[in-house]
Amino acid sequence: MTGKTARTEGIRFLLGEEARQLEDIDPNTTVLEYLRRVEGLTGTKEGCAEGDCGACTVVVAERSGDDGLTYRTVNACILFIGALDGRQLITVEHLQGAGGGLHPVQRAMVEAHASQCGFCTPGFVMSLFALTMNATDTPGRRRIDDELAGNLCRCTGYGPIIAAARQACKVQACQDQAGQEAGQPPAEARAQTEKRINQRLRRMESPETLHLKGRHGEYFAPKTAAALGEILARRPDATMVAGATDAGLWITKQGRRLDPMVYVGQVAELKEIHLIDEFLVIGAAVTFDQAHQAIAGEYADFGELIRRIGARQVRNQGTIGGNIANGSPIGDSPPALIALGATLVLNRGGGLREMPLEDFFIEYGRQDLNPGEFVQAVRLPRRRGEDGFRCYKVAKRFDQDISAVLGAFNITLENGRVARARICYGGMAGTPQRALACEQAIIGRPWTEETVRAGRRALRRDFTPMTDQRAGAAYRMAVAQNLLTKAHMETTNAEWPTRLVGKREAAHG
Ligand SMILES: Cc1cc2nc3c(=O)[nH]c(=O)nc-3n(C[C@H](O)[C@H](O)[C@H](O)COP(=O)(O)OP(=O)(O)OC[C@H]3O[C@@H](n4cnc5c(N)ncnc54)[C@H](O)[C@@H]3O)c2cc1C
Ligand code: FES
Ligand code: FES
Repeated sequence: MTGKTARTEGIRFLLGEEARQLEDIDPNTTVLEYLRRVEGLTGTKEGCAEGDCGACTVVVAERSGDDGLTYRTVNACILFIGALDGRQLITVEHLQGAGGGLHPVQRAMVEAHASQCGFCTPGFVMSLFALTMNATDTPGRRRIDDELAGNLCRCTGYGPIIAAARQACKVQACQDQAGQEAGQPPAEARAQTEKRINQRLRRMESPETLHLKGRHGEYFAPKTAAALGEILARRPDATMVAGATDAGLWITKQGRRLDPMVYVGQVAELKEIHLIDEFLVIGAAVTFDQAHQAIAGEYADFGELIRRIGARQVRNQGTIGGNIANGSPIGDSPPALIALGATLVLNRGGGLREMPLEDFFIEYGRQDLNPGEFVQAVRLPRRRGEDGFRCYKVAKRFDQDISAVLGAFNITLENGRVARARICYGGMAGTPQRALACEQAIIGRPWTEETVRAGRRALRRDFTPMTDQRAGAAYRMAVAQNLLTKAHMETTNAEWPTRLVGKREAAHG
């Protein structure tokens, strides 16, 4: 699979509209490094080099059907170059209006005085460009905030930038203008461009594994689970990389090198979401953004949790599989998945095994993953009846922040009593962990404040949290207990003002 049938002629992509083929490049090169050092395109800036500030935001376009494209903002500072294979990379240098002048987004930034030092500006421009390209209607303030949460500005202030966003987001107006300047009906100019790019990207596609081996190291990008299994069987020492929102930082912050590197983001089976019987089966390489709607359709709170992971760029890159496989005690999706009774499907050379997700996390830094094995999918039981699931993320910032404590509550009531309960916390132990003593303390009892008090006391038997830079041990315990109380309040009296945004519906609207 990686020998005779491998494709070895390099990473192929479009830089703007120019074709590129990189044969002799270090697979550890980030897209930002490539742009600035190899191409000399310095419009894309480096701020933090860890995915936090958005100064390096670029847009990656992918085929959508036979004619269209989807546009994703990503953080170039932590995306490896191989992830561009078969895609189009668009940077601030590639934007222009139909007549060759400023793009409508750039013009809006100028007219709203939305830039001072300008360091953050290319990133904001690219986020707004993606927003205007993807939006099907005029986005409201909430959508604009969501799109810009991953772009930090420290000198202009957000008022003018949001004003620019509003102006640019008169999507139709932007397109009208571009179309008129080119003397064409608005939608047509864009559709023609997209179709042309789509066809060029299609010609770059290949069912074969991309395999690079040279003086810089070895890189594999398999297209099927079978090919991935074969590679890992031969090279169990290889490091898997999906969205690289963790792995990218190993390079930029720890100076590590990944060799060989196996990119799992193009493995077909890992990119799929299926409804199978009573389960939502989410492939490991499905991004947070792609998983969001499917999950929100089953469990509103889980959907909102996914929407708060990192910011737009991180959700466009980061995957559900990476969030599980990294074994982090403060990853956001595992506590919710465990509380909902999800199982994990692992693949080793084509042999599948399935386990309750909670069993995957053995202890801090140790997961039940054998050499040569990879995470294939997570199976999430679908909602039965009313959506009583609640989960809460507590972090220092609302957006773009890692949890200090996360509580997930799957409590089933029958005749006012707790019939079943699965409660799981993140940030309270070395792994995401169920609160078994708490569950036992409330099961079979009436769902009252007294029962909640018993549950709160039991949490002290479940956890001995630690103090670190995110939170102190006492704070963590107090928050964990209060989240149980909050779940009780929300499931007994929906009128309590328990959410930051106000009513629960507002938070989900
Ligand atoms: C700015 C920023 C904000 C963030 N905010 C959040 C947040 O709010 N909440 C949160 O939970 N996380 C957050 N993260 C962490 C990160 O985004 C997530 O953990 C993400 O899910 C990792 O997925 P990935 O695809 O990027 O993984 P990668 O970085 O590609 O890989 C992570 C680990 O998983 C392994 N791996 C990947 N795929 C597989 C597979 N199929 N089988 C086996 N092993 C595999 C890799 O080998 C590696 O060890 C943030 C990160 C950044 C940079
Ligand atoms: S440089 Fe800050 S997100 Fe990339
Ligand atoms: S304009 Fe200076 S940081 Fe935004």
